[in-house]
Amino acid sequence: MSSSKTIGETTSAKAPDSVQWVGDSRGHLRLIDQTALPTELKFIDCHDVEAVWEAIKMLRVRGAPAIGIAAAYGVCVAASIAPDDDVPRVAEAAAQYLATSRPTAVNLFWALDRMQKIIEGSTDSWSAEMAPALRNDLHREAGAIHDEDRTMCHAIGRFGSTLIPDGAGVLTHCNAGGLATAEYGTALSVFFTAQDEGKSLHVFVDETRPLLQGARLTAWELMQRNIPATLICDSMAAQVMREGRIQAVVTGADRIAANGDAANKIGTYSVAVLAKAHGIPFYVAAPSSTFDLSIATGNDIPIEERSADEITNGFGRQTAPNGVEVYNPAFDVTPADLIAAIITEKGLIEPVTANRVSQVLNQAQQ
Ligand code: MRU
Repeated sequence: MSSSKTIGETTSAKAPDSVQWVGDSRGHLRLIDQTALPTELKFIDCHDVEAVWEAIKMLRVRGAPAIGIAAAYGVCVAASIAPDDDVPRVAEAAAQYLATSRPTAVNLFWALDRMQKIIEGSTDSWSAEMAPALRNDLHREAGAIHDEDRTMCHAIGRFGSTLIPDGAGVLTHCNAGGLATAEYGTALSVFFTAQDEGKSLHVFVDETRPLLQGARLTAWELMQRNIPATLICDSMAAQVMREGRIQAVVTGADRIAANGDAANKIGTYSVAVLAKAHGIPFYVAAPSSTFDLSIATGNDIPIEERSADEITNGFGRQTAPNGVEVYNPAFDVTPADLIAAIITEKGLIEPVTANRVSQVLNQAQQ
């Protein structure tokens, strides 16, 4: 089920939440269909777990934190329509199924783990009378994941804005804004907060081939907030840096290893190398839910490979010969030594070393 409106010239201060829960513990999930932006603000209603899986797989909901939140609610959707005598089994199966939707963003697995702990806590001597309580517990946990992300994004913005000089030109890659999170974003939260604090800044937006999250989503979000923004093709970043227009780069992340190596949208690594070559600080903004301390380095981060069509037939037009061989990794890993600091809700990880990662993440939220 979907509803939509065409987007006109007007801008508003705040876009609607990309992930919404409608109703009580027997309600459903509503998402902004991010594939329709920037021309159409379209909502889709997910009433079963298959619809949630499809929305994640097809990037209708995307961005590491938003995927995690949507998946948590996906378990609630499954529980909501499960027969009372079978809620734990159906919810557990839904969690396992949703875990197969996309491999790289660790927030998906982090959120599903939290939901699975709630299910596990209820399986002893299950009886149908327990169904309303379990549905409520799952709904409460998904809501907590959602609310915590909102809080973390705002804290990231406060820490990150200290790194942005007044009058700076900054560059970002992909979309790490409100659409990709509960609200406000990670990388974009840094810019939004800097603007709220009265700093002037100009954001250069990589269009982010092949799916154009920068052009379609980041440019849209910045314009909604009246932040001066200039769209560039990914291949233009070096020239723009050489012209002295960029004083800092800030991107999001999908999974960060224990040593600080950070996976993000394909093309991020190239931007980090370029930043290093031009003496520009490269920052990663991410909540603690994006860290995977079970892996030592970025070499172990699974990189999603997506369909060749996204490159050869993007947005409805064939742009390569029939049958051409294509490689389409959706993410790359930026080594920690190219990252000047990781901006988390608990503070800055600077320098980016395994020791500092563990020190900052193990402290209470500031
Ligand atoms: O394939 P996508 O659009 O889900 O990739 C998203 C990114 O790479 C984002 O930069 C990342 O998830 C951080 S979102 C706060």
